[in-house]
Amino acid sequence: MSRLEISDKHRKALAELGQYPLLDAIVGRRSRRFPVGGSIPDGPLAYESTEEPRAITEVERALIISVLAGVTGWNYGITRHRGYAPNVPNYPGSAGGRTFPSAAAFHTSQLFFTDDSGTYFFGSRDAAPQIERQDEPADLASWITSTADGYRQLSDTRLVLPREEPYMEGHNTWIANWPGSLLAFPVADLSEHLVANLNFFAANGYVIYDDVHNTAVPGIEKFSGLRNFDDPIPLSFVEQYTLAEASAELATATNTGVLLLQALGLGGWTFDGLDRLSVLGASGDPRGPGLGFSYDTDDRWPFPNATGLEGVFETLVPPFVDSVAAGVDRYYERKFGPGGPGNPATPGPWSDTPKVRADYLPADGLQELVTLQAEYIYSRFGKLPGTVPTVHVLMYLQAQNLDRGFYDQKFGPAAYLPTHARHDDVWS
Ligand SMILES: Cc1cc2nc3c(=O)[nH]c(=O)nc-3n(C[C@H](O)[C@H](O)[C@H](O)COP(=O)(O)O)c2cc1C
Repeated sequence: MSRLEISDKHRKALAELGQYPLLDAIVGRRSRRFPVGGSIPDGPLAYESTEEPRAITEVERALIISVLAGVTGWNYGITRHRGYAPNVPNYPGSAGGRTFPSAAAFHTSQLFFTDDSGTYFFGSRDAAPQIERQDEPADLASWITSTADGYRQLSDTRLVLPREEPYMEGHNTWIANWPGSLLAFPVADLSEHLVANLNFFAANGYVIYDDVHNTAVPGIEKFSGLRNFDDPIPLSFVEQYTLAEASAELATATNTGVLLLQALGLGGWTFDGLDRLSVLGASGDPRGPGLGFSYDTDDRWPFPNATGLEGVFETLVPPFVDSVAAGVDRYYERKFGPGGPGNPATPGPWSDTPKVRADYLPADGLQELVTLQAEYIYSRFGKLPGTVPTVHVLMYLQAQNLDRGFYDQKFGPAAYLPTHARHDDVWS
């Protein structure tokens, strides 16, 4: 028995939703932040909602979570690199594909979400597709049901985040994480994303050097035979690249979610102004217990460093592994072990999938270099990555029932879409 029940009315609404024009969503997209139950006490936009806060439906929630992080089939791999043809690049971390792109299919992010009913985790990054891709129209009902079956409830309360500075930016205190809203956000593991980039550069014949301390990685001469050994890449570049690439994924995922809100006729927007460490629960401040992530502090760092959540979101560093070498092992096991993209037994999208998977560039010769460099960073900086956080949370999607009265009174015509005008009839 699935946890998501879809009424006949909602099945009809899903069928209509599947026909909503993509370009109408793109052209009609706007950050619409005022929900039923909202209140602005002062200024030119002062308004008091006449309604109580009201949660979105479970079907809407399942749609949003599916669009933010749902599994949509097999990843098609990275097609070719002449430097190691006929082997194919071994960059992907996941055999599966999701709704949003991921740098070289590293796929290191997982989704958390919270609403009035609790706080949840949706771990889709290594999930094999449950449903074979069909011809259009997509079977939305089956897809969102499978998503909802993958929710894991972490608590029965909404994420605790005081609605005041410094827990959130001053311009968000009136509304962020508001009663009735769904707040959903992908969280990236930058220890894994960095290891994936070290593997990527190693495969392409590059080593890194520590430009922060202006020193080579001790022992790196062993790899002097690599074709780009004399052109090492600065560590700070690789780490900024890692942060930027992960940010692109987090932002792409949430923006796709915002497009769905237009089609559904829900209010909402994507934003970043919540205190990262308070959300994760790594600020050390009991008023911001957040998700309860583990964290470390060190005199070398300006902020605590979140490392993960036991049994839910475990990164490649202690306390989740005994050593960084074991973390790197775990990364290659994800890639080449059961279900991994480089394992010939893993199903996939090609006409001869076992052959393509068997030709993934093997880890031999790469893992030793990646381990040496990752261990160096961890020992020199006390964390992995050394100069950017281990856990990265940036973009949030908030979805909520729109208070049309606010827009009717404070805006000119067409401040919201026909989908918003019809929303309550279609989705209530
Ligand atoms: C990186 C980023 C961070 C943002 N942070 C916030 C925020 O903290 N609070 C907020 O209300 N909106 C935030 N927004 C939404 C922008 O304010 C909004 O997209 C912008 O005003 C343009 O309006 P539009 O989205 O309606 O086109 C953010 C958007 C981006 C891309």
